[in-house]
Amino acid sequence: MERVRELLKAHVARAYAPYSGFPVVALVEAEGEFFLGVNVENASFPLSQCAERNAVAAMVLAGKHRLDRVHVYSPKGPIPPCGGCRQVLLEFGTPDTPILLHGPEGYVERTLGELLPWAFRL
Ligand code: THU
Repeated sequence: MERVRELLKAHVARAYAPYSGFPVVALVEAEGEFFLGVNVENASFPLSQCAERNAVAAMVLAGKHRLDRVHVYSPKGPIPPCGGCRQVLLEFGTPDTPILLHGPEGYVERTLGELLPWAFRL
């Protein structure tokens, strides 16, 4: 866990959050590999992308589709993922997928099912 927390903290400066001043780093574990994402904001605010979704995109680009564990870090954390990201995570995870919400002092763990009960699925 210390290695994961070091990776999360080491990438905060890579977040592009000039509008909100709210950097977020996500790290997804998939089939033994780690994929990172940061939030990327835009002057046209709705086009901003969350860290979780960018980490999932990196995972998919690497050909991985099984989300084993998710970490979200904010210097102001622990913060829970937004509703849209919960749905995106469920696409590749299950209700049992562990979601670890990290802040500078530590983390809390929940399952995706706890964060997104009664989720939409096709
Ligand atoms: N943000 C994330 O990256 N992930 C979340 O789950 C919550 C919010 C970002 C979006 C925006 O760039 C900033 O945090 C403030 O909302």
